[in-house]
Amino acid sequence: MRRKVIAGNWKMNKTPIEVVSFMETFPELVKDAEAEVILCAPYIDVMVLMKLADDTNIKVGVQNMHYEESGAYTGEVSPKMLRDIGVDYVIIGHSERRAYYNETDESVNKKLKAAFNYNLKPILCVGETLEQREEGITKDLITTQTRLALKGLSNEQVKKVIIAYEPIWAIGTGKTATSLEANEAIKWIRDEIRAIYGDEVADEVILQYGGSVKSSNAKELFEMSDIDGGLVGGASLDPTEFSKIVNYNK
Ligand code: 13P
Repeated sequence: MRRKVIAGNWKMNKTPIEVVSFMETFPELVKDAEAEVILCAPYIDVMVLMKLADDTNIKVGVQNMHYEESGAYTGEVSPKMLRDIGVDYVIIGHSERRAYYNETDESVNKKLKAAFNYNLKPILCVGETLEQREEGITKDLITTQTRLALKGLSNEQVKKVIIAYEPIWAIGTGKTATSLEANEAIKWIRDEIRAIYGDEVADEVILQYGGSVKSSNAKELFEMSDIDGGLVGGASLDPTEFSKIVNYNK
């Protein structure tokens, strides 16, 4: 049985003071969760969050990183820096990064390799736009994104990548993919991994759904055969709402 992993992606939200207030209630609300709980915070919040998450079951991640270990890349943060402060997870290739910051399948692949070089656990994002879905190319697009992102990784590494299927038309729109649509797409990704890396990897790899996950739809989504949890944006900003998603099975 695969474990469930539920991650919050705060995007560009929360000042360090707001993180302190979030953490006044959140740890107690999720302390008995069966799912693994991750909060992916803005860089500026990470040290504060890590301190407050110490001695809890909450893991800390960030939302992006560069693939080089250091150098003349103004404004960037390196995997070495993240490793040094003890960050666990890093989101790679989120659709907002691909759309607004020219993230490509090639840079996503370099970042995944860098994450493993520095012992960071990657959460890779893939997903189609509404036009692509309407054109009927969703399967081709998300399996290609997956294949290119994982290129050159070993079977052991692919096993450890968390992949979040996030249809772009469902992000921040309140429009969730139905549990059947989400499960179907996630199965396509698992089948692609099975074809390239074999049964053992495909049966172990954690595949999440993301896009307007709320406490009202989390249970139905996370109980589908191939959905191993979620990557949650807006609904992860409120500690009570996010705790209900984390505790979807209680
Ligand atoms: P929302 O949950 O706000 O739709 O965002 C999803 C997302 O992009 C998580 O990475």
